[in-house]
Amino acid sequence: MIVGIVAVAKNHAIGKDGKLPWHYSSDLKFFKQTTTGHAVVMGFNTWRSIGKPLPNRLNIVLSRSAQLEDDSNLLFLSSKEQVLKLSGYLKCDLFIIGGAKTYVEFADVIDKWIVTEVPLTIDDADVFMPGDFLAGFELSESNELKGGPVVKTFQR
Ligand SMILES: NC(=O)c1ccc[n+]([C@@H]2O[C@H](COP(=O)([O-])OP(=O)(O)OC[C@H]3O[C@@H](n4cnc5c(N)ncnc54)[C@H](OP(=O)(O)O)[C@@H]3O)[C@@H](O)[C@H]2O)c1
Repeated sequence: MIVGIVAVAKNHAIGKDGKLPWHYSSDLKFFKQTTTGHAVVMGFNTWRSIGKPLPNRLNIVLSRSAQLEDDSNLLFLSSKEQVLKLSGYLKCDLFIIGGAKTYVEFADVIDKWIVTEVPLTIDDADVFMPGDFLAGFELSESNELKGGPVVKTFQR
């Protein structure tokens, strides 16, 4: 299954200065629990922000230009088509973990969204989700995390 996973502020903000504009350890823990043992796909800007492969996951980094060395759990690919071809051979889920450009690229193949609603408005954010990214999806589950964020699952 291809799953989009994102944390979004009330005004659809997801990033600022190449980073997350908040820190919720409960959401980081939830993200780790949910994606461990699976494959994660990220754009090059998100890769730069994370800085190292996420452990116990296959990390797929997308870039059209950067040529970096693969590692045991790190794979650099240059197109969505390559990712989709590879996903046909995977027995695990494929999580699209951002950022905004990458979510938009994969929007049409995402089967399920896991959205953490962050109870903040980030006025000076510089990366946002499209306002309609959940069009065609239905809420199936909702859970509050420690500290205020709410995780909602949406199925296509
Ligand atoms: N709140 C959240 O849940 C969340 C999650 C993740 C990230 N973020 C935030 O989002 C921001 C980064 O997002 P962003 O939209 O600027 O960038 P991004 O999606 O992380 O990376 C964009 C880059 O990825 C590569 N790319 C994307 N789609 C591709 C494709 N189909 N084929 C080949 N390469 C592709 C391109 O790299 P090249 O230019 O090298 O070709 C593109 O410039 C940061 O602030 C980060 O902290 C937030």
